[in-house]
Amino acid sequence: DKGNHRHFMEKEIHEQPETISHTLSHYLDFTEGRARREALPFDFAKLDRIAISACGTAYLAGLVSKYWFERYARLPVDIDIASEFRYREMPMPKASAAFFVSQSGETADTLASLRYCRSQGIPIGAIVNVQESTIAREADGIFPTLAGPEIGVASTKAFTSQLSVLAALAVRAGSERGTISAEDEKRMVRELSEAPRYVRQALKLEEQIEKVARKLSQFRHVLYLGRDTSYPLAMEGALKLKEISYIHAEGYAAGELKHGPIALIDRDMPVIVIAPHDRIYDKTVSNMQEVAARGGKIILITDQEGARRSSIDTFETIIMPDVPEIIAPIVYALPIQMLAYFTAVFMGTDVDQPRNLAKSVTVE
Ligand code: F6R
Repeated sequence: DKGNHRHFMEKEIHEQPETISHTLSHYLDFTEGRARREALPFDFAKLDRIAISACGTAYLAGLVSKYWFERYARLPVDIDIASEFRYREMPMPKASAAFFVSQSGETADTLASLRYCRSQGIPIGAIVNVQESTIAREADGIFPTLAGPEIGVASTKAFTSQLSVLAALAVRAGSERGTISAEDEKRMVRELSEAPRYVRQALKLEEQIEKVARKLSQFRHVLYLGRDTSYPLAMEGALKLKEISYIHAEGYAAGELKHGPIALIDRDMPVIVIAPHDRIYDKTVSNMQEVAARGGKIILITDQEGARRSSIDTFETIIMPDVPEIIAPIVYALPIQMLAYFTAVFMGTDVDQPRNLAKSVTVE
């Protein structure tokens, strides 16, 4: 049932304040300001590395978490697209664990990657939305994303719930490895607890984003740029746009711009820059300047401070609430999803059932 919404995708985008809150409270004790310590099939303190493998949007959630695990828990992460990982014959050190991220829990390549890790004898965690799935069944530990059934083929609420689980695990890992103090843990848990409120604020940007989407639907190609955790988000924005609006889009690490894609920049190329005012904001601004100097149309997604500090003439600026670093990827997922959604609506495509795509890819 779509309720008052035109599409399941729109409904699922709007459910996110509740789904994120539900997921986070399963993994975090907001009263104590601590990550919950449910039994794990491994000990974070004794791990040298973790491997994460997944497909599509789930892979991009994993890629965001690489920054978190490495920054907050000082735990190196090897992250791979499952279709590559399964044939790569990666040596798995003894003190490692593997995580598989999957909404459906049935994705063929992700399952094959899990079985490879099983053959290597390392503990396996499954971050899944469908708890009765094959991937869940074959794992040693199940980390449910608790987003509820996702009907739209384009993943939205499953993505932000995957991010929520992974952020909570990164905080727990940091605490157990002694790389964040009890005080840091308290602060990070509080910051995460505020994510649903900021997501609700982001949803209020709908009208503005619809206007931006109307413009975006006039173009044939779109480039998305971001650094740090905004880099996987840039790729997620491009993935979402291409799959439902059929507009060609690419997501790039902003620093890679001058290594190739800058050749594409002209007045017919909108460039969506995802740039909260964070530790590397100024670097992203200098990449934006390069785009502006070549006539590229910049759509900047930032916060008040980010908008104030950039003197670049943008095509559009979307001002997000000012959010703590750890929740930025969760909150910035919203404008990206809405932009793809409204663009697809303007293009008149079948938003919930885009051509050639299946919700669950059970064949290779
Ligand atoms: C994109 C999308 C796909 C899935 C991918 C993995 O919006 O939905 O890229 O994320 O097919 O599917 P799961 O998570 O079921 O393994």
